[in-house]
Amino acid sequence: SKEGFETFTLKEIYEQPKVCMDTLNSKLENGDIVYEDFPFTKEELSKINKIYTIGCGTAFYAGINFSYLAKKMLGIESFEILSSEFRYDLPNLDENSLIVAVSQSGETADTLAALKEARKMGAKIVAITNVLASAITRLSDYSIYTLAGPEIGVCSTKAYTSQLMAIYEFILYLAKATGKIDESKFKEYIEELKSIPEKQKKILDDVGIYEEIANVIKEKSSAFYIGRLIDYKTAMEGALKLKEISYIHTEAFPAGELKHGSIALIEEKTPVIAVLTQEEVFEKTLSNLEEVKARGAVTIGIYSEIFRGKDKTDFSIFVPETYKVFYPILTAISVQLIAYNTAKALNRDVDKPRNLAKSVTVE
Ligand code: F6R
Repeated sequence: SKEGFETFTLKEIYEQPKVCMDTLNSKLENGDIVYEDFPFTKEELSKINKIYTIGCGTAFYAGINFSYLAKKMLGIESFEILSSEFRYDLPNLDENSLIVAVSQSGETADTLAALKEARKMGAKIVAITNVLASAITRLSDYSIYTLAGPEIGVCSTKAYTSQLMAIYEFILYLAKATGKIDESKFKEYIEELKSIPEKQKKILDDVGIYEEIANVIKEKSSAFYIGRLIDYKTAMEGALKLKEISYIHTEAFPAGELKHGSIALIEEKTPVIAVLTQEEVFEKTLSNLEEVKARGAVTIGIYSEIFRGKDKTDFSIFVPETYKVFYPILTAISVQLIAYNTAKALNRDVDKPRNLAKSVTVE
């Protein structure tokens, strides 16, 4: 049932603090991360020299956070490849390669086909999935389950943030197992993860501005998302969400790239939504926003609270402060609310967007 919410999608958006907490807690034991029957020894994990994240759509956009963090926090060369490309353009894989496959349903044909190829080459495979004993689990050496519960809305919301939580936990597990992080740092990260659901609630308690923003976005047939570094990953998810349920054509760009051609598309009142949570690129992204504003764009910013007072957009949204690498699990909720409110303002069938199925079982 929708439990009083107007759509399943909205209900699922509001379930995120709970499912993220459940996903985190399911692996926490006395302050440590425990994966029951995990098949790889510390020695094997220390030999991993290449990581590939695969998936489709939203699951891919969650997964790319894994490869980003693997580079940053494990110091391992890491790549992200869409499942549908991976299987026809196989990298060199061996037992020191780790494949992380992300799939809510665990039944997506492209991802299954890619895993079959990776298996033949002897790579280690870990799946992150929401469905117990789904097909993906049979092709993987180990499965980490997200506890999002059934997702009825066709567009992925709570599955995405619970995938991010599972990814953060798995990165911390690997970092500790391979000696890349010391005990006290590890504890700090875990404490920060525990505080995430409360921060997500804060975002969900203050949704007034999204209707105003939706009323601006709904007037145009195209929109842009921009962001740098980890914020670009959220921008891609935000663009997919907005186009998928509102049918407004939306593209995401690394903020610095827009001026290399695509800025030609900006006209009077074109919405440009920026995600700004990373200190080292904040000023740069702000100046990209100024460039599009000078060409008539309406600018919308999703900022970390640390930038309050420094915002320069027509509409500004703030998410609570967290560790640099954890912002996507917060900004995700803002991009969902932008998509949701825009789709509602246009009277779209949010739970069942046209042409889409919940699980894609053909390649
Ligand atoms: C977007 C969406 C899709 C799925 C994709 C992968 O909102 O729902 O992009 O994320 O089809 O599906 P799974 O995760 O089941 O492999």
